[in-house]
Amino acid sequence: MNIILLGPPGAGKGTQAHHLVATRDMIQLSTGDMLREAKESGTEMGKRVADVMARGELVTDEIVIGLIREKLEGGKGGGFIFDGFPRTLPQADALGQLLSECGETLDAVIEMQVDDEALVDRITARSTCSNCGEVYNDNTKPIPADGVCTKCGEAHEFIRRADDNEEALRNRLMEYYKKTSPLIGYYYAKDMLSSINGLGPVDDVQRSIAAILQG
Ligand code: AP5
Repeated sequence: MNIILLGPPGAGKGTQAHHLVATRDMIQLSTGDMLREAKESGTEMGKRVADVMARGELVTDEIVIGLIREKLEGGKGGGFIFDGFPRTLPQADALGQLLSECGETLDAVIEMQVDDEALVDRITARSTCSNCGEVYNDNTKPIPADGVCTKCGEAHEFIRRADDNEEALRNRLMEYYKKTSPLIGYYYAKDMLSSINGLGPVDDVQRSIAAILQG
């Protein structure tokens, strides 16, 4: 089963994708994570995208479609979770094309709805384990007092993302409403869209997603 988690920055796409990977053997394809890896490893492409990402703007379609193409050629497991991709109409068209070239289909698009005020609260309180990527939140899932990550069991640094500040977040939201939200209509017209309330506790959101995947 191949699905898209669609939603604004901080909607909880990464949090829910990690759960689906752990419980359903699915493969998370997060273009944000792939771009951050390229940045960390100092590749030419990573250097080119670093400033764009820090400002909260979108990286070119050509780069992210290339990243996804490479990953689709790899293993499949219980299916792909597209997290943060597609983000524009050309990316959505490209995904349809790439999946059909691999003999795959897109089975569900889950829109996670969260209001802007909650997004700001979530993003400015987020930190991530630098070892395994587990996501924490100062308010709802604080870093353990002993500094040991609950997922990997290691005591590494917990990092705040360079684009998790109010100014970059304003740009990220603007980009979402201008370029990504048209995908809601795009997938609705294809009869693939399910919208859920992403505001409740993480477990409730998990249950809403499970109901869609089982239905
Ligand atoms: P990306 O990494 O994809 O960031 P994003 O879309 O802005 O999403 P986030 O990772 O910030 O949020 P999330 O929805 O995963 O929320 P999370 O689960 O962490 O992209 C970064 C940048 O890369 C872009 O700005 C762009 O420059 C570039 N890029 C990436 N893809 C691209 C593409 N396709 N095209 C062009 N450019 C691209 O949760 C957030 C916080 O809330 C956490 O602290 C978490 O613990 C907490 N939380 C989660 N769920 C709940 C809940 N239910 N209740 C309370 N708290 C919760």
